[in-house]
Amino acid sequence: MSQTVFISNAAEVITMAGHTNKPAKKEAMSDINVIENGGVWIEEGKIVAVDTDENIRAKYKDHINTAEQIDATGKIVTPGLIDPHTHLVHAGTRENEYAMRLKGKTYMEIMNAGGGIHATTRATQQATHEELYEQSTKRLNQFLQHGVTTVEAKSGYGLTLEDELKQLEVTEQLNKEHPVDLVSTFMGAHAVPLDEKNNPDKFVDRVIEEMLPEVARRKLATFNDVFCERGVFTPEQSKRILEAGKAYGLTPKIHADEIESYAGAELAAEVGAISAEHLLKASDEGIRSMAEAGVIGVLLPGTAFFLMAEYAQARRMIDAGVAVALSTDANPGSSPTISLPFIMNLGCLNMGMTPEEVLTATTINAAHAIGCANEAGSLEAGKKADITIWDVPNYLFLSYQYGMNHVDTVIKAGKQLVVGGQLR
Ligand code: NIG
Ligand code: FE
Repeated sequence: MSQTVFISNAAEVITMAGHTNKPAKKEAMSDINVIENGGVWIEEGKIVAVDTDENIRAKYKDHINTAEQIDATGKIVTPGLIDPHTHLVHAGTRENEYAMRLKGKTYMEIMNAGGGIHATTRATQQATHEELYEQSTKRLNQFLQHGVTTVEAKSGYGLTLEDELKQLEVTEQLNKEHPVDLVSTFMGAHAVPLDEKNNPDKFVDRVIEEMLPEVARRKLATFNDVFCERGVFTPEQSKRILEAGKAYGLTPKIHADEIESYAGAELAAEVGAISAEHLLKASDEGIRSMAEAGVIGVLLPGTAFFLMAEYAQARRMIDAGVAVALSTDANPGSSPTISLPFIMNLGCLNMGMTPEEVLTATTINAAHAIGCANEAGSLEAGKKADITIWDVPNYLFLSYQYGMNHVDTVIKAGKQLVVGGQLR
């Protein structure tokens, strides 16, 4: 049985309470629920009470002396952050392409010339399970140090049955062995392999007939994602893959309208996707249909920053009633970062979001985007004690002082894994 823990006297506890049943939209995205001079009482890895420090002390007075106490004086407490879109498991880096882009080459030019996703696919195919496990563990530790306690992870750098399974097996093992919780997404349709460039439909058939059944049979993924983009997979091909996944119980997600407007947002609404991601070039009609169908918009401003592109229209989406979540898109090509706090800065400074909205977008709405809102994403009795303590006096600092790590303590299921900013 793990220890009872009392987080005491926090300047602010940001609970995010009240959005567990459905993602926060419109004004509700500003509803973050702040308790000043707050405390959190944890037993056996779960949150038992979130209240003012005074009320908690009164309620648990007979047990305070035996609880492990974490003094949060002058600090703030939030739910552990949730990153709902990453390409965590991969091998290799692409700093050479970054240098090429700085000289004017575009992301798609590099990909069409056999680099980009293909370069990472080659490196990932060549890597052993153990090498992928080791590299991904390092990244997960960095996520944890930046206050993140749950991470979605996609395959899609394998592109053969065997290599896709290898990536998914690494995710499965990490989920068992690493304290950060992982949610797995199959993304066999991340790119058409170079040697099948002239017959993409044949590759789509293979994803549907060979890969999906095996991934589903072995329960290696919860979601099924596809890169719907001009020159990658068409909306028609994407639809086939997503509908086929649904028949196996995999919920659709879509990389939509990232580089060009391509009716990806519309497709997300049509197939009943849980989320559409990127959306830099989403059309007004697409945004409207997402709002109507209740598709969550997972925005990844790190790619706009790093690819020097126009940002997604977060303000317009929120005003239209789309529930918005934010993510790093951590990957070696379009967003080589694990810093979700930096993504919060970008959300405010470049997408017109408020500090309250970016908190919602990286906690409870992110949890909804990967189906774990019943266990995580807010500080409420009964949820997992996944908690980040930040060494800042109020929540505005999280999106104000940028490019630095304010994490003091990270608690995962009641255990302190980061203390004083360092991994234990
Ligand atoms: O989310 N857009 C497609 N996939 C990734 C990029 C992957 C890569 O460049 O390696 C993304 O941006
Ligand atoms: Fe991505």
